[in-house]
Amino acid sequence: MTPAPIAPRRLPSLDAAPHAIPYQGSKRRLAHAIVLLLPGDTGRLIEPFAGSAAVSIAAAHLAIPKAVEISDINEPLMALWQRILTDPAALADDYESMWNEQLPDPRRYYDEVRTKFNATHEPHFLLYLLARCVKAAVRYNRYGEFNQGADHRRLGAKPTTMRPRLLATSKTLAGATALARDYAESLEAAGSGDVVYMDPPYEGVSNTRDHRYMAGISRESFIATLRNAIDRDVSFILSYDGTTGTKSYGRPLTEVLDLEHLHLYAGKSSQATLNGETAHTVESLYLSPALVSRLGGVAKAIERLRPAEAMPLLP
Ligand SMILES: C[S@@+](CC[C@H](N)C(=O)[O-])C[C@H]1O[C@@H](n2cnc3c(N)ncnc32)[C@H](O)[C@@H]1O
Repeated sequence: MTPAPIAPRRLPSLDAAPHAIPYQGSKRRLAHAIVLLLPGDTGRLIEPFAGSAAVSIAAAHLAIPKAVEISDINEPLMALWQRILTDPAALADDYESMWNEQLPDPRRYYDEVRTKFNATHEPHFLLYLLARCVKAAVRYNRYGEFNQGADHRRLGAKPTTMRPRLLATSKTLAGATALARDYAESLEAAGSGDVVYMDPPYEGVSNTRDHRYMAGISRESFIATLRNAIDRDVSFILSYDGTTGTKSYGRPLTEVLDLEHLHLYAGKSSQATLNGETAHTVESLYLSPALVSRLGGVAKAIERLRPAEAMPLLP
């Protein structure tokens, strides 16, 4: 039987944590729970499915890891991260110019930027597309072209909002490394003092109908890569499957790997609410044996997720 999910509490210390880019599937909310599972002696926090790097930003904001490495297979996304880290003011200038230029005809402008992005892969174009596209969802066609449409109800964050976001995120992640590469390479490079947080695209919600694949990653090779990391005593936290109402996405990993399986309450499903229904989302978090032992055992790990009762639950 599935244990009752743990309801994460809001960490007031994360109220001022910044974020730079809107991104579908961002772990900004669950970061409040995930950071509590990072041991105090975390050397490097490695996030190999970085996306908007919500967990790395939260952990760095709380100064938990000594160093941060983010990586993702999406090269233009990592080029955008490079610019956020090294050149945020000029990136904010580029965004401001595009945001103002769009005003006479936002629809046409979005399409033009999308064409330019597909021709050049320049990071500031991607920032604009992410700010304006439907659900901040990165979608590519089979030719590798960004093909997500604009959300015509919105113009994207105002430049006066985007600039402080970019500057604050750059400051929070100062000294971090950003790499474009496959998750397996990052996981292979993890040492025993590091902690790896992984949030792969979920099985069952990827574009492919073949559920052995998670957006291009085969379940078999993912499991083999995780097994190798477990054998090397790598500490990792993995977001993998979950349920919304009676629907589940992804098959639990505990059938095949020796991992601690925690269930976190992740709030009401916004999709169900749109359909006039109420469905609760529960997300799985898997902890590797090396991490559980660093945290002093499962009971202590779970205890970390229940800090002071006075703290409000995540809204
Ligand atoms: C669910 S998103 C991660 C969201 C992230 N946790 C956040 O807070 O924004 C999954 C990410 O995995 C990346 N990805 C997909 N396949 C990958 C692979 N083989 N290696 C590395 N990254 C991959 C995608 O580009 C996407 O950004």
